[in-house]
Amino acid sequence: MFKIINIVGARPNFMKMAPIIEALTQHSAFIQHLLVHTGQHYDEKMSKSFFKDLGMPVPDINLEVGSGSHAEQTAKIMVEFEKVCLSENPDLVLVVGDVNSTMACTITAKKLGIKVAHVEAGLRSRDMSMPEEINRLCTDVLCDYLFTTDCFANGNLKAEGIAEEKIYFVGNVMIDTLLKHKKMASELTLTQALGLKAKEYAVLTMHRPGNVDDRGVLKGILDALKEISERLPIIFPIHPRTKKMIEKFGFQHYFNETGDVEGVWLTEPLGYLEFLHLNMNACLVLTDSGGLQEETTVLGVPCITMRPNTERPITCEVGTNVMVGNDKDIILKEAFKVLDGHAIKGNLVMH
Ligand code: UD1
Repeated sequence: MFKIINIVGARPNFMKMAPIIEALTQHSAFIQHLLVHTGQHYDEKMSKSFFKDLGMPVPDINLEVGSGSHAEQTAKIMVEFEKVCLSENPDLVLVVGDVNSTMACTITAKKLGIKVAHVEAGLRSRDMSMPEEINRLCTDVLCDYLFTTDCFANGNLKAEGIAEEKIYFVGNVMIDTLLKHKKMASELTLTQALGLKAKEYAVLTMHRPGNVDDRGVLKGILDALKEISERLPIIFPIHPRTKKMIEKFGFQHYFNETGDVEGVWLTEPLGYLEFLHLNMNACLVLTDSGGLQEETTVLGVPCITMRPNTERPITCEVGTNVMVGNDKDIILKEAFKVLDGHAIKGNLVMH
């Protein structure tokens, strides 16, 4: 029987892997598949709650590597995953996305002569200060099967000399998950419970080292958010990395942590369905995430991306996404355009 090891490690991997496991399960007469969780993300809210929301099986193996510097985390994953490969002897390792787990497992498998497939191949920001760009480049150059989400990705891979017969344009599994769960998310009552009206609040996510690890940069963004929040509440499910940096820099005064939703309102990281529910009803999403640029494009919700570049340019071309970097005045200008009714309208809304 053909044996596949599927890899997940960090939050953005789970919604990409869920439909792949579902599809593989339908072919269990021919394909045996194991799920390995590297343990890169380990908090209940960053990991386990997604398995519940997405109906994913409990991982067969958890490498429990946890946090660390990039070298430490990558190395730990490689050491532990090598043992799994040697004992399980798979025919194929399947990785998704661009996190450290993606690259670490790819290198490990290839050095053992095991074939590797990458789902979401070919995305490029051309920004080597992003750890994810390094992960994407290393993964794609080594992989045997490259599954792409859009035509830009195909072009990137061909320009890098990757043989055409390795590239398969398959579409976007993260969006398959979104479309599958949209109705379920729409039936939640979270907004009402919080006293929010649809299209009268914004959602914020922010965790990139480039935005949160530097005091001056983070202060500029927070100053902009405070001004925006004078016009409508901003709901901010905070990433553990960002929480740590805010405490380190003493920026807690920017946030409202009381029961009432106003100003920039902090919550714990949310589960998949709750977060989708908030996004689909938001008037505006502010983010530095990768996947959220695509999700807002499909939902038709205006998205302001606080990054200098994107590996997902299609979201600006056909979607609702605008890149603003992390300059306070530009963030404000683009956010107020949306609040004043001048958001760009995408033409890729799917139902
Ligand atoms: C990782 C990915 C990033 C992705 C993001 C989504 C890499 C290089 N980066 O970034 O592409 O957008 O996940 O969330 O792989 N922490 C916890 N609990 C957890 C996980 C992390 O407290 O469950 C804290 C730790 O202090 C850790 C820090 O968050 O050091 C950063 O975690 P890490 O996995 O290194 O990177 P992310 O910033 O989450």
